[in-house]
Amino acid sequence: MEMVILIGLQASGKSTFFRTYFANSHELISKDLMRNNKRPSRRQAQLLTAALEAGRSVVVDNTNPTLEDREALIKLGRQYKAKIIGYYFDSTLQDCLNRNQQRTGKAKVLDVGLYATLKKLTPPDYSEGFLQLFQVAIAPHGAFNIQPWEVEQTDGKPEV
Ligand SMILES: Nc1ncnc2c1ncn2[C@@H]1O[C@H](COP(=O)(O)OP(=O)(O)OP(=O)(O)O)[C@@H](O)[C@H]1O
Ligand SMILES: [Mg+2]
Repeated sequence: MEMVILIGLQASGKSTFFRTYFANSHELISKDLMRNNKRPSRRQAQLLTAALEAGRSVVVDNTNPTLEDREALIKLGRQYKAKIIGYYFDSTLQDCLNRNQQRTGKAKVLDVGLYATLKKLTPPDYSEGFLQLFQVAIAPHGAFNIQPWEVEQTDGKPEV
């Protein structure tokens, strides 16, 4: 059983990545599915607990930018002995702003949200408890380039 944690700015490709690689095997947990809930964090914890208790693998598809956001998830995952796997979406702010502009309807968010997430964004680290960490870049023709996480290759936050 796995708990996959996606980490990245809005419009960095997380939900598309979920649909491409995990939709058939993992349950989607996302606060985007709880927009009308008054306490989305509590609801998310309930859904996560239910899935893990039943032995289902999950993908947590939020921006998950801070250590605290991830700590709560990892703690829960570990209680159920899930393998904790992280994917960091390494995109520039400008590329995310551009992709966000191209979205329509509810998928399109306010640009200020991207700036706010960038400010908080702390790249993940194995010390948080990840068994595996990868970095993901959007490649040409709708593909994703997935590389093992190497701290030396990045100075942390995406370039502005
Ligand atoms: N590999 C890709 N190649 C080209 N375009 C992509 C790719 N992945 C995602 N996109 C496009 O980028 C936009 C943002 O993708 P997506 O909705 O998956 O991002 P997100 O990280 O889930 O954003 P949010 O955090 O706001 O939910 C979408 O319009 C999507 O079609
Ligand atoms: Mg999304």
